[in-house]
Amino acid sequence: MVDYKSLGLVNTREMFKKAINGGYAIPAFNFNNMEQLQAIIKASSETKSPVILQVSKGARNYANQTLLRYMAQGAVEYAKELGCNHPEIALHLDHGDSFEVCKSCIDFGFSSVMIDGSALPYDENVALTRKVVEYAHQFDVTVEGELGVLAGVEDDVVAEESHYTKPEEVIDFVSKTGVDSLAISIGTSHGAYKFKPEQCTRDPKTGKLVPPPLAFDVLDAIMEKLPGFPIVLHGSSSVPQEYVDTINANGGKLPDAVGIPEEQLRKASKSAVCKINIDSDSRLAFTAAVRKVFNEKPAEFDPRKYCGPARDLMTELYEHKIKNVLGSENRLADLG
Ligand code: G3H
Ligand code: 13P
Ligand code: ZN
Repeated sequence: MVDYKSLGLVNTREMFKKAINGGYAIPAFNFNNMEQLQAIIKASSETKSPVILQVSKGARNYANQTLLRYMAQGAVEYAKELGCNHPEIALHLDHGDSFEVCKSCIDFGFSSVMIDGSALPYDENVALTRKVVEYAHQFDVTVEGELGVLAGVEDDVVAEESHYTKPEEVIDFVSKTGVDSLAISIGTSHGAYKFKPEQCTRDPKTGKLVPPPLAFDVLDAIMEKLPGFPIVLHGSSSVPQEYVDTINANGGKLPDAVGIPEEQLRKASKSAVCKINIDSDSRLAFTAAVRKVFNEKPAEFDPRKYCGPARDLMTELYEHKIKNVLGSENRLADLG
């Protein structure tokens, strides 16, 4: 049993309380490799922001779960080297799909886990989530549950259609399960193609797709039922068009990729939404930078010469999200 506190990590309880009271959201960035982790820690340390490092099942398979855990431990030390005396870093399992995977992460030093029973019938989601909460809370590990279904790919689960969270279910779910935070569905979705072109309008000047707005009425109804309770938004990449354009101009093919406009995420951050998940934007930044180098310097074969620019672009992206979208800059308790 590895105690996350001995690794210098924190759970999400205090982070979320402060975020709700302060009208901002904590960034939850997925990582799969060293460059992403370096960029996340550099950006969050330089802006003095708390941060959640997210590890999906796919990331555990790709990078090896032991290595990922030691990387997170190293991240705490790296943040200190960068001048954060008391970094607030949570290591979180993203989309845990069974009790066993959640338990293995808790036993292995994660400070927070998500149990995603959103595709299950309601009662089974409650029972599974409750089981994870009972285990996690023995070790002061926080748990995120999910109600409602996001369209898009969640690891192996592909949901064609999204179903908004039903506000009338949230009190029952939260009280029966004891979860610390709740992921909801209000129109976000995973990946770089969040909306079909027919769901959007087109900007007559640029020809780019303009997505439909998020269902803030559903969010409001949920907040009314659960005043002050931490809400989580998955699928919150904004799919920056400059990255899409760079990718397409350098041999890529991402037609009609579209995300959530940042003003809407800014608005959500000021509410009880206190954790915002971003993965695809980092993938796009990485790919854009690498494609550009490959296209402009075809003789280059030193990975540092293309992973380095990718890391720089991701750092810029994370800093922008922290400062201008989520509002989590300068929110560490110890700014020293
Ligand atoms: O929610 C999905 C995350 O973006 C993780 O994606 O399962 O491909 O690692 P992944
Ligand atoms: P994006 O695909 O929008 O980045 O969402 C990531 C996510 O929700 C991870 O759980
Ligand atoms: Zn997600």
